[in-house]
Amino acid sequence: MTRPLGVALLGLGTVGSAVARAMGDREKRLAATAGRALRLVGACARDPGKPRDAGGVPVTADPFALLDDPEVDVVVEVIGGMEPARDLQLAAFERGKHVVTANKELVAREWRQLHEAARLAKRELRFEAAVGAAIPVVAAARALGAVRPRVLSGLLNGTTTYICSRMEEGAAFDAALAEAQAKGYAEADPSADVDGWDPAYKLSILVSLLEGRWFPPDGVRRSSLRSLTLEQVAEAAARGSAVRYLAVADFGERATKARVGIEEVRASSLEGQATGPTNVVRLETDLAGTLTFVGPGAGGNATAAAILGDVIAIAQRGA
Ligand SMILES: NC(=O)c1ccc[n+]([C@@H]2O[C@H](COP(=O)([O-])OP(=O)(O)OC[C@H]3O[C@@H](n4cnc5c(N)ncnc54)[C@H](OP(=O)(O)O)[C@@H]3O)[C@@H](O)[C@H]2O)c1
Repeated sequence: MTRPLGVALLGLGTVGSAVARAMGDREKRLAATAGRALRLVGACARDPGKPRDAGGVPVTADPFALLDDPEVDVVVEVIGGMEPARDLQLAAFERGKHVVTANKELVAREWRQLHEAARLAKRELRFEAAVGAAIPVVAAARALGAVRPRVLSGLLNGTTTYICSRMEEGAAFDAALAEAQAKGYAEADPSADVDGWDPAYKLSILVSLLEGRWFPPDGVRRSSLRSLTLEQVAEAAARGSAVRYLAVADFGERATKARVGIEEVRASSLEGQATGPTNVVRLETDLAGTLTFVGPGAGGNATAAAILGDVIAIAQRGA
């Protein structure tokens, strides 16, 4: 009988805990879709003593206890940020493990280094959860290699959508941001959301996939949401529009231009109707017309769904 595919979680916060719970509550479904059993070998966190809702997974503070464990086939990095996530992903490849991650910053910034490490190790680097959480936009971008993309636009950040929609209801910017943080939408550092880093990383990843070469996140022009005023929001509403923090890539004949910032959309559009973590991705192409993807772009469970989809794909390939 095939041995279960061993999974280790680096990070056991919002996303890591949701992965652990899902692995515990749907063992049979995962085994059926993956074609073999999946086994959560252990998890790593900063403070192993912290109470968490993560089933009975053994927790260590030492990531190398998991990286060096021969029972671990797939390392799921859900710590976030650049370090130690980068060193740990590279260490995982050096030890012949596959890597699945939700870390958009690291994938966008270290695209070349991580892909090269995976290639040399003959292992997979998968990051469906890094863009649009449960919406399979990374898979879609990979599947659309034959089309010429014309314009990609949409909402890739729930915090900024929430702030825009609350300002439509009259809330001030600072109050709306505080609410987004209280609801758990905002990144730990709100600058990642309101100054556009988070959607810039996601846009960089989608453009890189669609073009087949790295489009660095520093190439995405960013303007902050902080300058948005209640007057601007009211003026847009009077025109039947809504203000949203949009991510746009324009795939010109010569050079692709990408930007994130404040734009007006029709109030009745999917973008104008979105009020929170709902993400929208519209892709205009030559052969395939316009494709639209909508769904939950954040949250532990939605992100766990994408991560486990990647683990299943690795299992199906006979890892
Ligand atoms: N939350 C979402 O909705 C969402 C959606 C899509 C993608 N993501 C991405 O998913 C990743 C994780 O996000 P999250 O919301 O789950 O973050 P989080 O709740 O802050 O969890 C981070 C986890 O990493 C652990 N950790 C931090 N530093 C560590 C270190 N040096 N060594 C070992 N473990 C360490 C923490 O340990 P302690 O628990 O002991 O502090 C915690 O368990 C990020 O890349 C994020 O951008 C999140």
